[in-house]
Amino acid sequence: MSFTVRMARPEDVEQIVPWTTDTFDWGDYVPDRLPDWIEDPNSAVVVCVDESERPVALTHALLLSRTEGWLEAARVHPDHKRSGMGLAMNHAGVAWARERGAMVVRLATEAENKAARHQVEALDYRKTSSWVHARYEIGPGSAKPAEPGLRPAPRSDVDAAWMFWSTSNLAHHGRGLIAHGWRWRKATPQDLASAAGEGNFYQSPAGWVVADLPENDRMRMLWLATTPEEAPRLLADLIDLASQKGAAELTIKMPNVPWVAEALSRSGADSKEVVVYSFAL
Ligand SMILES: CC(C)(COP(=O)(O)OP(=O)(O)OC[C@H]1O[C@@H](n2cnc3c(N)ncnc32)[C@H](O)[C@@H]1OP(=O)(O)O)[C@@H](O)C(=O)NCCC(=O)NCCS
Repeated sequence: MSFTVRMARPEDVEQIVPWTTDTFDWGDYVPDRLPDWIEDPNSAVVVCVDESERPVALTHALLLSRTEGWLEAARVHPDHKRSGMGLAMNHAGVAWARERGAMVVRLATEAENKAARHQVEALDYRKTSSWVHARYEIGPGSAKPAEPGLRPAPRSDVDAAWMFWSTSNLAHHGRGLIAHGWRWRKATPQDLASAAGEGNFYQSPAGWVVADLPENDRMRMLWLATTPEEAPRLLADLIDLASQKGAAELTIKMPNVPWVAEALSRSGADSKEVVVYSFAL
């Protein structure tokens, strides 16, 4: 079928929602976020429209820093897959990011999502890092009485934590990236300094952690510095912290190295592999 690529308009939302509600077995986040993405002058929602001007595919492009573009939420209507829309939207998203100064564009997909992986590999993206997305259910039994556990770290810890992390196996395998939710970009010392200012930078004898509470009942770990030997203890400290904060869930994204995968599995995490792809501009 023939289609046209253009930027989304607010009136597209009601036509997109019906076919983006049940994309995955857990649902989809697109219907909730789409209106804000379309209104946001700093991001672009690219759509493909059919001959009747109906939107039948979308993707979201944004900049995560002055030079790093990010693409997410590629969705093609089930009746129109394999028509080249995914490729066309990717080209448009990359062009949008390049025009705004991006020198690299990245995206992430679950390792088991073969369609998405084949598609981005067909576009010459390089698989640059592999991550584990881990999830714990936090209940009354999750608290660990061992002391001292994770405590808020002062801003004066930032340099030491940064130096430790930036020469570590974790930074190397994670290509120096930090995960903000499902978006990855280069980490900077400012990430730690900002987290310290917001009370989200923690330290224990087992390492340092940046973790926040995007929703009251969910704690999210964004960044972590530790060693293979101390990782099990730091994970136990994190579970304890999540429990103290009253979270019902803790999510973690860490580079997928064998000792990380093992520590996560031993601590009872429910894990999935996520692949981050990069395209240099
Ligand atoms: C992933 C997705 C966006 C791909 O969009 P699409 O428009 O169907 O893909 P395209 O037509 O542009 O495919 C281009 C190439 O990618 C590869 N590809 C796409 N889907 C594929 C599949 N299911 N299996 C194997 N290869 C596939 C092929 O090389 C294809 O070229 P070909 O059709 O000439 O063989 C679409 O399958 C989709 O909406 N999936 C559900 C949502 C999702 O998983 N999004 C990605 C989240 S990270």
